[in-house]
Amino acid sequence: MQPAELNLARYNVRLDSETDFAGWRDAARRLALNEVGPDDINWSVAIGSEQRPGDLPAVPSGAQLVVPRDFIGRAETAFCHSDPSRFAFLYRLLWRLRIEPKLLAIASDPDTRRLEAMEKAVRRDSHKMHAFVRFRKIGDGDDERYVAWFEPDHFIVERNADFFVRRFTGMRWTILTPHASADWDGERLAIGPGAAKGDAPDQDDTEALWRTYFENIFNPARLKVKAMQKEMPKKYWRNLPEASLIPELIAGADKAAKEMIARMPTEPAPHHAKVQAKHWPKQDALPELDDATTTSELREAAKGCRRCPLWRDATQTVFGEGPDNAKVIFVGEQPGDQEDLAGKPFIGPAGKVFDAILDDAGVDRQKVYVTNAVKHFKFEPRGKRRIHSKPNAGEVQACRWWIDREFALIKPDLAVALGATAALSLLGKAIPVTKMRGQVIEREDGLRVFITIHPSFILRIHEPADKEAERARFLHDMKQVKALMAT
Ligand code: URA
Repeated sequence: MQPAELNLARYNVRLDSETDFAGWRDAARRLALNEVGPDDINWSVAIGSEQRPGDLPAVPSGAQLVVPRDFIGRAETAFCHSDPSRFAFLYRLLWRLRIEPKLLAIASDPDTRRLEAMEKAVRRDSHKMHAFVRFRKIGDGDDERYVAWFEPDHFIVERNADFFVRRFTGMRWTILTPHASADWDGERLAIGPGAAKGDAPDQDDTEALWRTYFENIFNPARLKVKAMQKEMPKKYWRNLPEASLIPELIAGADKAAKEMIARMPTEPAPHHAKVQAKHWPKQDALPELDDATTTSELREAAKGCRRCPLWRDATQTVFGEGPDNAKVIFVGEQPGDQEDLAGKPFIGPAGKVFDAILDDAGVDRQKVYVTNAVKHFKFEPRGKRRIHSKPNAGEVQACRWWIDREFALIKPDLAVALGATAALSLLGKAIPVTKMRGQVIEREDGLRVFITIHPSFILRIHEPADKEAERARFLHDMKQVKALMAT
C-alpha cells in the first residue's frame, strides 16, 4: 500500500456517481481556475474521498475558463465511458486546452485520439442499446408493463433514456442494467440504481413476435456472417429472443436465398424516394420548439418529429391545416398515400368524399381546422404500392404531443373524431364508434367531442345502395356538427 506521505495529490475529489458530469464540470472549473494541475488531483466516485465539488476552492472573482465550444459536449459523451481514469484524463485535456486551444484538431495527438476513441465507443454502445433492448411484458390490463434487461459496456443509460421515452411513449417500461435503471410510467422518467439480470423476466409472448419479425427481416441473399456478428455481437445474443434462430437461419441461407429471389417484391415508386429526399435531407431531428404561438410555427417544428419510428419511411410530416381561429377541429386517423406525398391532410380519395359532404352540409372547409391523430403515413410496401396500415396505440399516444398543442393554440369549441383512431387520440380510450356515432362526449377539460365514422368507410362499401345510405348518414352527422358549431 502507498504510504500516506507519498500520495502527493492535494485534492481528493469525490463525484456523486459514475455519470456525475455536472459535478465533474463544477470541480474542474474551480480547480483549473485555481491553477491546480492534473497531478494534484485524485478523482473518485462516492467512496473514501473527502472533497465534494462544492467543497473545493471557489472560482476567483472575475476568472473565466475558456475552452473550445465543442469540448463540453464531447467531454460529456466521453464521460460515459467505463474507463475509471476518464475523470483525470478529461481534466488533463481541459488543462492542456487552456494553452493549446487547437488541440482537439490535432488528430495525431494521443489525447485527442483517446478522446475520439472514447466518444466512438460510447456512441457505438448507445447504438447497440437502441437496437438490442428487448422488452418483455409483465402484468395485464392496468398492470401491464414492459421490462428489459440490457448489459451495456459503458454508463449510457441516462443519456439514452429519452430515446426510449420518445420511441415507446405509450408503454410503461423499465430498462434494467447492472449500473442503472430507467423507468417510464407514461408521464415521468426516473433513473434508478442498477439491478441484476434475475430482476428482469425472461420469457413472454413477445418473444415469439420478435422471432417472427427477425425471421421475416432476415435476408439470406445478403448474408455475411462476419458482418452480421459485428453488427450484432455475440455478447448481445443471450438477451435476444430471436438469437436462437440465428444458427438455423445461417445454415439454411442458400436455399432461403433462392426462394427469396423468386418472390422478390418490386421497389416502391421512384417518386416516393425523390420527394422523401427533398423533405428529409439526411439531417438530425429538428428541435421540437415548445413555444410555438401559431399553428404555422408548430407545423415547422413538427417537420423534425421523431416521436415514433413512423417518420423513417414516411415522406414528410403531414400537419393539420386551417385557420388558427377555427371553431371546430376535425381529426382523422393518419395521412394516406397522396397526403404523404403532398404534405396536406385529406386531399386523397377519402378527402374528396369528406369535402363533398362537408359542402353539402354547408360547412366551409376553409373555416375549419383539419388534422390527423397520427401525422406520418404508416404503410406496408406491396409491389409499387404503399398499403395503408393502421397506427397502433403507441404511435397515437406519441403523436398526442402535437394534437394537444394544436388544440391548445386553436382552442376550438368542438372536436370531431372521424373514426376510432381519432376517438382514441381525443378521449384517451378506445370507444365503439359505430355504436356511439352521432353522440357528443364532453372531456374533463370541457371540450365537446362529436363521434362519427371515418369517411374512408364510405369508400370501402361496394353495393351502391348501401354506399348511398352511408353517405346520407355521414351527411346527417355533418349537419349535426354544423348545428353544434353554432351553439
Ligand atoms: N385519412 C385520414 O384519416 N387522414 C387523411 O389525411 C387522409 C386520409
